[in-house]
Amino acid sequence: MSARSAAPIPPHWRREVQTVLLTEAQIARRVRALAREIERDFRGRELVIVALLNGTVVFLADLIRQLRLPLRLDFIGVSSYGSGTESGKLTFTKKLCLDVRGRDVLLVDDMLDTGQTLSRVLPKLRAAKPRRIKVCVLLDKPARRVRKLRADYVGFAIPDGFVVGYGLDFAERYRNLPFIGVLRPELYRPAEPCP
Ligand code: IMP
Ligand code: MG
Repeated sequence: MSARSAAPIPPHWRREVQTVLLTEAQIARRVRALAREIERDFRGRELVIVALLNGTVVFLADLIRQLRLPLRLDFIGVSSYGSGTESGKLTFTKKLCLDVRGRDVLLVDDMLDTGQTLSRVLPKLRAAKPRRIKVCVLLDKPARRVRKLRADYVGFAIPDGFVVGYGLDFAERYRNLPFIGVLRPELYRPAEPCP
């Protein structure tokens, strides 16, 4: 499903958000539909959900409450020390604790962008010998991919452009926006030098 919204920007966020890409209602509807797809594929099996910190927290909280399946939850911490909107060197900040050997794993991330994060995380997870791994991302920016990777469940395919809200941040801010919006570029691009 691709993202499109002409919704007004809530007044509190007008100075920072340029457009609303996905409203709260659109996200809620899509998360419910994703949960139904996942339920269908994992029917009758206990799921281990492995979510990447920190960007998944809001999406994950909504998704798991829609899943009518037995599940256990664990997290892998990954942090990218890039500046601004480009991801930099990836560092692992928390290891998986649950034993996933022989289990059905759903790996959840907020965004599939260049694919560098998942291409580092997936081999680590495979090394723990789960029965199968499926990947679920809320957002997919296929235009930016540098690694050949696809997710099994995608909330929305979105165009290139930096977005925030519903867990997604810019420099750890804006995760609490209940919608997903395009950040005003002047907030992350340095001003043009004077001629
Ligand atoms: P990748 O490694 O390039 O696929 O990027 C994955 C990570 O970059 C995501 O988990 C996000 O945390 C972050 N990211 C990529 N695009 C955006 C964006 O538009 N807004 C906020 N975070 C983003
Ligand atoms: Mg992230």
